[in-house]
Amino acid sequence: MSPSVDPLRMIAAKRDGREHQPDQIAAWIDAYVRGEVGDEQMAAWAMAVYLNGMSTAETAALTQAMWRSGTTLTWEAGTGPYVDKHSTGGIGDKVSLILAPLLACCDVRVPMLSGRGLGPTGGTLDKLESIPGFRTDLSLEEIRHVVESCGCVITGTTPEIAPADRRLYALRDVTATVASIPLITASIMSKKLSEGLDALVLDVKYGSGAFMKSRDDAKRLADSLVVTGQKVGVACRAVLSDMNQPLGRMVGNANEVDESVAVLEGGGPPDVRALTLELGAEVLHAAGVEPNIGAAHTRLARMLDSGRAREKFSQMVAAQGGNLDHPRALAPARELPVPRAGIVEQIDAEKLGYAVIALGGGRRRLGQAIDHSVGLEYLIRIGDRVSQGQPWLRVFAHNGGVEEAIDLLNSAIRIHEES
Ligand code: URA
Repeated sequence: MSPSVDPLRMIAAKRDGREHQPDQIAAWIDAYVRGEVGDEQMAAWAMAVYLNGMSTAETAALTQAMWRSGTTLTWEAGTGPYVDKHSTGGIGDKVSLILAPLLACCDVRVPMLSGRGLGPTGGTLDKLESIPGFRTDLSLEEIRHVVESCGCVITGTTPEIAPADRRLYALRDVTATVASIPLITASIMSKKLSEGLDALVLDVKYGSGAFMKSRDDAKRLADSLVVTGQKVGVACRAVLSDMNQPLGRMVGNANEVDESVAVLEGGGPPDVRALTLELGAEVLHAAGVEPNIGAAHTRLARMLDSGRAREKFSQMVAAQGGNLDHPRALAPARELPVPRAGIVEQIDAEKLGYAVIALGGGRRRLGQAIDHSVGLEYLIRIGDRVSQGQPWLRVFAHNGGVEEAIDLLNSAIRIHEES
């Protein structure tokens, strides 16, 4: 045990609301990774942080310690800038699939390390795995090679990336300590910093389908992420985005890839295109590639409309072993009618995510295989006037879990009846 780490004093200090010094946090995380602090001690400390919070200096120190627990990708001088986007997760959020190749058409490189579904929100890796042959388990060497040859990659984190976060996240998941702004900040930023970035844009979502239900909480998380990124030398921007209903029309896996391809070809739902362009413009400007947001936006839109971004996506998919032209199966469709006529007042978007899980399109157990062909197509928007019996969802399903999913979906829509 390192002489500077006394687990009981460390836990008691946070329990009593005292502030740690940066070197204490560094030693604490080091000792945890070496196995000198037990999971039960780390869990007690995480609960103390959950209850009493952390200062921005402590959060930055925790981020640095978790980042330095592993490898950072290094890039040859003059080949950047290197940029990325991180989203806090939502229903139907397929922006990563579009944005990585789109940005790679604009003089930046994108080493995007992504995740799987978390709770009701889908995961970029799961969506991409609906492309036959696509690999999401690239080694560090393969990541470097794909970035060098295509300008972008989307793959999972490797065991060398922020191992402290890997262990701490798994522990938080089973000790009710996930929803803590400093712990979320350090977890997200330690992984992103390991990509060797110059600039990062954060899509912090709020609403019924987001981790943060209120805009105020999302703003607090966004501020914490941006301040922490800036303290460790990465140009960070945050966009707060509405997640009170699915982004776009498709929710699932294969159907979200299809929708992403439509956006990459200059079409697709306007909200997906608009958010992609907003996030892309912020990060191109933050990286110093474009002098202002307007110029960045125009350049990105041109890359979608010209088909260049679509070509880049095909190239990246091929470099990762996949074939974008191979047809992706969709399960048989049935339509779900609105319960009554009126104005669509509210959607519980989280329930749509849970319905996809019930159909087999997401996981209930770690490592569970998923069915990429199931999902939903959202046919209305909040504020629409609907008539009795009008379909509001197309459900792509086989037989498993249909009743459970339909019960969830029927309880997810609120219609205001006009008098
Ligand atoms: N995503 C992460 O990577 N970490 C968190 O703590 C929460 C969401």
